[in-house]
Amino acid sequence: MKAAVLTELNKDLEIRDDVGLGELGPNDVRVKIASSGVCHSDVSVQNGTIPSGFPVVLGHEGAGVVQEVGSAVSRVAAGDHVILSFIPACSICNPCLRQQSYLCEQSGPQAMAANFRIDGNPVAGMTGLGTFAEELIVGDAGVVKIDSDVPLDVAALIGCGVTTGVGASINSAGVTPGSSVVILGCGGVGISAIQGARIAGASEILAVDTVDAKLEQAKHFGATHVTKPEGFEDAKNAITGGEGFDYALECIGNPNTIRATYDAARRGGTAVIVGVGRMEEMLQFSAFEFFYGDKTLRGSLYGSSNVRTFMPELLRLWRAGKLDLESMISRRIKLDEVNEAFRAMQAGEVIRTVIDF
Ligand code: APR
Ligand code: ZN
Repeated sequence: MKAAVLTELNKDLEIRDDVGLGELGPNDVRVKIASSGVCHSDVSVQNGTIPSGFPVVLGHEGAGVVQEVGSAVSRVAAGDHVILSFIPACSICNPCLRQQSYLCEQSGPQAMAANFRIDGNPVAGMTGLGTFAEELIVGDAGVVKIDSDVPLDVAALIGCGVTTGVGASINSAGVTPGSSVVILGCGGVGISAIQGARIAGASEILAVDTVDAKLEQAKHFGATHVTKPEGFEDAKNAITGGEGFDYALECIGNPNTIRATYDAARRGGTAVIVGVGRMEEMLQFSAFEFFYGDKTLRGSLYGSSNVRTFMPELLRLWRAGKLDLESMISRRIKLDEVNEAFRAMQAGEVIRTVIDF
């Protein structure tokens, strides 16, 4: 079958048509991919921001149809439509039992399972998925069943960016009605965070991006104010009277904008870091400012979401017309064009490119 494979750092993806699958284990599910989004984290594996072994089949934002299940699988059956969950939710480990499935202990094993075969050798998919392939095998903890009338391109977006962004506003930040919010970065994740803040009832939502077209799009999804980084300080003062925002969310993954996000939260406010920066990049805080600011600084992994309940909730918001997923799809491509999609994403030309299988 066809798959897009990263063989080493900073190389274009190789589109191969000779990729195979390993044996289906008792707890595994084989899924035919219908749609896969192209997310910045795919680029982050290519450029080394997110560490990975090589070769690796990229892609972690996808949806498809179950083809076959192992003998011990009861969660889904052949023919079911599923969203792939890049962090599994096994439902029985301690984090899952604590309602923190985004920390599921199966995420390591899922990521390590090398279920693809290239030249006879086991090869892993990104986060244990690898949605840039026509089919994949994953443990059943890594699939979330959905209604079969949901278009699978819309479902694919929920696999990463939408759950991450909407979840960051609703679950990680806990945006409250009437509050003020700033979102730095308006890609697929930031646009989703804007929608999450709107759904949560924020009064003011400031979107910050370097690209003019992104700011126009941000308004469509719910931003009440927009600015380029140079106008950020003025916009903050105008919207919050200089106090700073109740909630500030970073959706880029850059140490400078992470620091700016902390600074943008008001005293007593909340800063949430959604973007994924490099392991070796450091941030500086004075030892005094935490005391003085009394701010909450938190990270956000998969939007701090329990996917088995949150993904269905997102679909209900979508059905109710409160979450616009269709407009987030800027381009549709075939798998062969994935390298062009990586370029377009880094040039700020798209919210999401979706690969149509
Ligand atoms: N200031 C403001 N905006 C910026 C800056 C900056 N210094 N640098 C980049 N941006 C904007 C880009 O113009 C783009 O619109 O941030 C946005 C990033 O969007 P995408 O590249 O589409 O990335 P996305 O998929 O949304 O992921 C964002 O979240 O999950 C993580 O790994 C992911 O770190 C990445 C982040
Ligand atoms: Zn992603």
